[in-house]
Amino acid sequence: MIFGRVKPLDAILATAEKKSLHRSLGAFQLTMLGIGAVIGTGIFVLTAEAAQKAGPGMMISFIIAGVVCAFAALCYAEMASMVPVSGSAYTYSYAVMGELIAWMVGWALILEYAVAAGAVSVGWSGYVIGLIEHTFHIDIPASLVTGPFDGGLINLPAMLIAALVTWLLVIGTKESATVNAILVTIKITALTVFIVLAVPVMNGAQFSPFAPTGIIGVSMAAASIFFAYVGFDAVSTAAEETKNPQRNMPIGLIGSLAICTIFYLLVAAGVIGAPGLSSQPVVDAAGHALEPGSRELAAQCATRAAEGFKDVVCSKEALAFTLREIGWPQIGNLLGLAAGLALPSVILMMMFGQTRIFFVMSRDGLLPAAFSKIHPTYNTPHVITIITGIAVALFAAFFPVGQLANISNSGTLFAFAAVSIAVMVIRKTDPTRKRPFKTPLVYVTAPFAILGCLYLFVSLDHKSIILFLIWAAIGLLVYFGYSRSRSHVGRGIVDVPEHQAYEELDPPVPGTH
Ligand code: ALA
Repeated sequence: MIFGRVKPLDAILATAEKKSLHRSLGAFQLTMLGIGAVIGTGIFVLTAEAAQKAGPGMMISFIIAGVVCAFAALCYAEMASMVPVSGSAYTYSYAVMGELIAWMVGWALILEYAVAAGAVSVGWSGYVIGLIEHTFHIDIPASLVTGPFDGGLINLPAMLIAALVTWLLVIGTKESATVNAILVTIKITALTVFIVLAVPVMNGAQFSPFAPTGIIGVSMAAASIFFAYVGFDAVSTAAEETKNPQRNMPIGLIGSLAICTIFYLLVAAGVIGAPGLSSQPVVDAAGHALEPGSRELAAQCATRAAEGFKDVVCSKEALAFTLREIGWPQIGNLLGLAAGLALPSVILMMMFGQTRIFFVMSRDGLLPAAFSKIHPTYNTPHVITIITGIAVALFAAFFPVGQLANISNSGTLFAFAAVSIAVMVIRKTDPTRKRPFKTPLVYVTAPFAILGCLYLFVSLDHKSIILFLIWAAIGLLVYFGYSRSRSHVGRGIVDVPEHQAYEELDPPVPGTH
């Protein structure tokens, strides 16, 4: 019964045909799309968290997380080219492994997208507050710009940006090709400037001790920094709009991941080697690294700052902080401005992804039909957008960025593993179906991706793992208590009502507006 209720692939594809998108994206646009969705809070903010967990060894963490993502990306690419419709991992699972697994994947994707949007909002807040404080030389009370777990009360700017992005989505904002290109250029320029200024002045001695917390610390940092790579699935959801997907899809996926990995490694090296700064973990009296985003770490950081220590791990805007400390205060502020301008588009992508998953699940009957209501004027799924926005704003207001990123990672890893399983299953169950892109060495690539996801999952902090399990248990209750009996597939309805237009739910990719 676990694998029962498969949604026929042909029914899913018939839906896609109604969209009939123009195949216009080439390798370059796909790579830009990937970079646009990927570079965000991970590198700009979580570098400090990774350093707190692994010290300079975080460079290995960046490589581990990037490699796991690359393997998962290859599996995504095959599924995306076969099932090029909205809903990503949820839809793939529905077609291959049945409703229950699909439901669990969709439920996990809520963590991936909505919680990630919260994390990026908190990351944005850190940079914007730093920028305002340094530009206008004012001191904004910490209680209003940090959540309660982090030593404050509420993170108001993070809440506000989440609300602003929700509003943009309700009125139907999509990122155009031009806006995406501008924001990618801003991000790449900001990171390049950072690298050009920080790498040449690196002090090799700062890399020692290299892995003060050992392999466990490096693994834990990899599990967190995995967040920095999330978002490339945006590329795979554009499969239907890609020219020659067999060639361009892997270039777009692997190309954007490779470019991001190189940037991340150079940036991490620049942060670690910055003269006068320390990227070693801040420890308690017993010598144990304190938990990122905890009151204990915040208190210890305050004490150390008063004593004149310059700890990268204590900064909420690690890259701007580094530039200011190595003698480029104005450029540090400009980097803060770049982050302030570019990060909202990552929030937009994530929230958009969330509303699309909810929409598809609601259209399948697994969530209330009211969720897929379309606004009469704006032609957007406003109900679900507003519900998502409220949840994101609350996450952003009260939780630390690292915790949100880890929780988001738990859901993403589950979805990545499910897609990697699905790609092998469908090779057996439907070997003759047309695959515009085939995962190379699938029986090596997919198991490696699954094991990699498992390894990163168990390397997450305990709180995130337990929260994921609780979330999954709630998901099962909702499924058996509500969704199972209302499922359209279960009730024999596989047709898609015409009035639930797809057009407004196209992915926010170049060329859609
Ligand atoms: N990869 C995206 C970021 O780092 C989610 O913000």
